[in-house]
Formats: sequence, structure tokens, C-alpha cells
Amino acid sequence: MKEYQPIGVFDSGYGGLTVLKEIVAKLPEYDYLYLGDNARAPYGPRSFETVYQYTLECVEWFFKQGCSLVVLACNTASAKALRTIQQNDLPKLDGSKRVLGVIRPTTEIIGNFTKTNEIGILGTNGTVQSNSYPIEIAKFYPDIKVHQEAAPTWVPLVENNEYDTPGADYFVEKHIRNLLAQSQNIDTILLACTHYPLLIDKIKKYVPEKLSIVSQGKIVADSLSDYLERHSEIESKCSKGGKISFYTTDSTQDFDNHAAVFFGKPVKSTHLHL
Ligand code: DGL
Repeated sequence: MKEYQPIGVFDSGYGGLTVLKEIVAKLPEYDYLYLGDNARAPYGPRSFETVYQYTLECVEWFFKQGCSLVVLACNTASAKALRTIQQNDLPKLDGSKRVLGVIRPTTEIIGNFTKTNEIGILGTNGTVQSNSYPIEIAKFYPDIKVHQEAAPTWVPLVENNEYDTPGADYFVEKHIRNLLAQSQNIDTILLACTHYPLLIDKIKKYVPEKLSIVSQGKIVADSLSDYLERHSEIESKCSKGGKISFYTTDSTQDFDNHAAVFFGKPVKSTHLHL
């Protein structure tokens, strides 16, 4: 086995770091390779075709770096690109490699959080318009009623380091109000965009305390751990050196400054030109 065969973790920008952080906490022994496509973020407003093309390009790059397993730590990419990549591209590229997303692990267990059986989903335009969450949740929990609200301004707030400013309050409050106006019975709000946990302090300000707010980081980490246990043919190909490498398609200086805050540790990234 080659020395460095990391698990790939992908996002359009910084959001996937909220997932990587939890994955590393749960599975510190593996090597990881993170790619933020910051230069082309946000993915949320882009067409199906564009998100698919960008995501596929990044997945191919991960494969060239020696990854046998790539986690799309991005709901928009998971909603718009994952299935096509799994069904059409993987068999052609390398049928022994795997690409996983964040929607399935979340929908599998979302029913554990709600008592009223009414859930609110906050996501990007792309994720909400794809209807992936209502469709997938119905497979596991046909009785759960799903309400959705797109919060397209939240990703740019995070990508531009404005998530902690008074200006962010206006947009956070607006989308939470719109979501909760859909039903008084919503008792669980799912942050179905990996960027949104970075706005958690503001989100908590506008969500009544009795509601549960669910982020995906821990859910995806637990699901990955379970996946590796069940798939020894993939697990055995992932190297264990505890090394984490970061790549960004935009400025490394900006990435390092922001990522360190989101990841909780100093980050030194390398620029990738796609
Ligand atoms: N973190 C991505 C997600 O979970 C962000 C989307 C974007 O780039 O708009 O959907």
C-alpha cells in the first residue's frame, strides 16, 4: 500500500471543515485530504450541471491523490452530483473507489430528534429545490412532515467572514422566521448545509429554546465510522498516519486565516488550480 492514501473530504468552501473536525475527533488515526473549492463557491445558486461538473472535477482530483474514499461534506453537491457520480462516473473511473454524501446519513436518523414529527430544513437553494430531504426522509420516516426554507445569503456570509457581524443577524432572523411561519409544530431544525453551523450563535438567538437544532458533523462522523467497520475492503486502503492536508482553489492566506477558526487548529493550505 502507498504510504499516504487519505480519506478525501470535499466542500465548496469552508463548510466541510465543520464535518472534517468531527470526523477527525471520531477517527483520528486516518490520514485526511480536505479540498475547499472556495474560488467557485457558493455552489448553492448554481445549476445541476455546473455543480455536477465542479464536483466531478474535484472527485477526480482526489482519486489522483490516492484517495479510495471521498466524502462530499456538502449538501448541495450531495443533492445534485452524488447519485450521477456514483452511478455513471465511478464505474468508468475506478469501480473500487467510493464517494459518500451527507444527506443519507442525516435522513436515516433525523426521526430520532422529533416528537411532533414536523421538521424544518434550512439549506441552500440547490438543496431545497432538489427536494432531496423530503424525498429521502419519506423513505425512512413516512409520517414526518418536512418544511423547507432556502437561506441563500448564509453561505456568502460565512465565505466572506461576515458570519459574526450585526449584518448577519438580519438574514439569519429572516430565514428562521420564514421557516417557523410554515408550522407551529416544528420541533426540530436541521442545518442542511455544512456552512450553517458557523452561524450557530446567531441561529440560537432566533430559534425558541424548546426546539432542537441539528448539525451534521457528528452524524456524518458516526456514519463514516460505521461504514469503515462494515467495509474492510475500503478501510484497508485508507492509510493511518494522522496527517491532514488542506487544499483550496482560492487564496491560501484567506483560507488559512478562516479555516483555523472553523477547524479549531492552525491550518496551512496549498493552492490548487483546477
Ligand atoms: N456547504 C455547502 C452545503 O452543505 C455549501 C453550499 C454552497 O456552496 O452554496 O450545501
